[in-house]
Amino acid sequence: MFILPEKIKIIEVGPRDGLQNESRHVQEDDKLAFIEALQNAGISEMELTSFVSPKWVPQMADAPTIVKKAKHIGRQFVLAPNAKGAELALEAGAQSIAVFVGVSNTFNQKNINRTTQESLEALDPVISTLKDKGIFVRACISTAFYCPYEGKMDPDAVVALCKRFVAMGADELSVADTIGRANPQESYELFKKLKEEIPGILLTAHFHDTRKMALANTFAALQAGIDRFDTSAGGLGGCPFAPGATGNVATEDVVNMLDTLGIETGVDVKKVCEAVALIAPHVSRPIETGMYRLFVNGQL
Ligand code: HMG
Ligand code: MG
Repeated sequence: MFILPEKIKIIEVGPRDGLQNESRHVQEDDKLAFIEALQNAGISEMELTSFVSPKWVPQMADAPTIVKKAKHIGRQFVLAPNAKGAELALEAGAQSIAVFVGVSNTFNQKNINRTTQESLEALDPVISTLKDKGIFVRACISTAFYCPYEGKMDPDAVVALCKRFVAMGADELSVADTIGRANPQESYELFKKLKEEIPGILLTAHFHDTRKMALANTFAALQAGIDRFDTSAGGLGGCPFAPGATGNVATEDVVNMLDTLGIETGVDVKKVCEAVALIAPHVSRPIETGMYRLFVNGQL
């Protein structure tokens, strides 16, 4: 018998993960319209942007304006890789911050220019300061299954890294298949292990869809007891420092799957598609998710 919880929380990452890898420059107003349309679709947790070096990720250079101008409904995250990012995020008025570290040392160096250990040491006092200020801290764990440089990751190393973040005071762990290579069995096993070894923490699954297994992985994680999923409207996404990775699992396809299973998300598929229609003309890649295609063909 399948595990089918009554409710699932969708955390929309489109404005951040979806647009950080975009080759075209997306205007601030178009990002803000996308964010607002997603909120109107029922999204209550969202990654808005990243406070990272504009030299490394020029697409997120407008982060202060996005945070200042976007409505803050529910929990709206911004990413920060270090003390400088957290400082700038607080200055802009962010209330919830996501830090990010790779299980793989090589990936972490390519992404943040530090070893995993160096990042952890630098983030320890940052998280402590954020917690003192009452900020919600999410820790994103990249390359939790496979690394584009080092291959398969050891699940025990993932658990150890997650435990380290919990000890530092993180409120939530978002565990990611950065390059979209995990299969449903690996997803089930890792999330089951994390649920067992780190009970009581908010645990979120973050799947990329490179090999078209993200929806299957979502269902497998659901069977392991996960009830929080990072998804991206239009299936946009990808990390500029993870070669070969494509977009995240699409919000509209995940919500549709959950709707048909009778699981409540509070998110309206058609309105998510309307948000996708707003951003679609401003991005370079075609949007070909199942539900968006039906929407465009007038079949929704
Ligand atoms: P660095 O070059 O080592 O930085 O980059 P530094 O500490 O040597 O400082 C150099 C300059 O950058 C200094 O300025 C700093 O002030 C400035 P200068 O003195 O030369 O004028 N600086 C910053 N400016 C703005 N914001 C900051 C910041 N920090 C330093 N936060 C750094 C290190 C971390 C900054 C760089 O590597 C970086 O920005 N990386 C960002 C990588 C990124 O955004 N990756 C994508 C997000 S992660 C992801 O997508 C995965 C996820 O989706 C889960 C999954 O799927 O796996 C979350
Ligand atoms: Mg990602």
